[in-house]
Amino acid sequence: MTRPLTFAIPKGRILDEALPLLAQAGIEPEAEFHDKKSRALRFATNRPDVSIIRVRAFDVATFVAHGAAQIGIVGSDVLEEFDYSEIYAPVDLDMGHCRLSVAEPEGLADEDEAAMSHVRVATKYPYLTRKYYEARGIQAECVKLNGAMELAPSLGLSRRIVDLVSSGATLKANGLVETNVIMAVSARLIVNRAAYKMRSAELVPLVEAFRRAVGGKDAA
Ligand code: PRP
Repeated sequence: MTRPLTFAIPKGRILDEALPLLAQAGIEPEAEFHDKKSRALRFATNRPDVSIIRVRAFDVATFVAHGAAQIGIVGSDVLEEFDYSEIYAPVDLDMGHCRLSVAEPEGLADEDEAAMSHVRVATKYPYLTRKYYEARGIQAECVKLNGAMELAPSLGLSRRIVDLVSSGATLKANGLVETNVIMAVSARLIVNRAAYKMRSAELVPLVEAFRRAVGGKDAA
């Protein structure tokens, strides 16, 4: 028998929405997956041919792009930031909805963007940030952070941030306002392209099961 398929799932908010969809697609992780104290990173499922790894969202894309995991779930923000040619993203899962936005301290909005040639931005998304500003003729100097971007303006690291916004509560709690939306984000089912060809007998039905699960959600 071939090795089980490895399914990469992101930690964090998407996880709670992803689990019911996984169940609808016929995959249920072993009990230890739900044990918050567990230090395990790889889990068996009800299907002997599928195991699950739980990693950071950016790492889901890396594992799948390199074929270390054959299938995964990740936000379209991560896909756009890395633009991996090895990843095929066949299904919009209609969950994990949020947006990638520019935010800044209240009052800064009075600055005339048209007169600017350079901005300093704290972000986890340097590629998308530079691209967004380049299209406006502005050079963006990005300070790479991996979380808590909202702290950067008050501590003088940068005046602006580019980060995910969902309810807006984190921005509000940190005295920031959203000024521009760079892109709308949703979670996608992703597959390693080579694996999709080599292991199509396993992956094609799995992708179809997710398509049906999302379709069922629409109908509900
Ligand atoms: C995300 C994001 C923002 C926050 C936005 O962080 O980076 O900080 O959620 O959500 P809101 O608009 O509903 O407040 P998350 O909590 O997922 O953790 P992270 O900092 O590890 O990315």
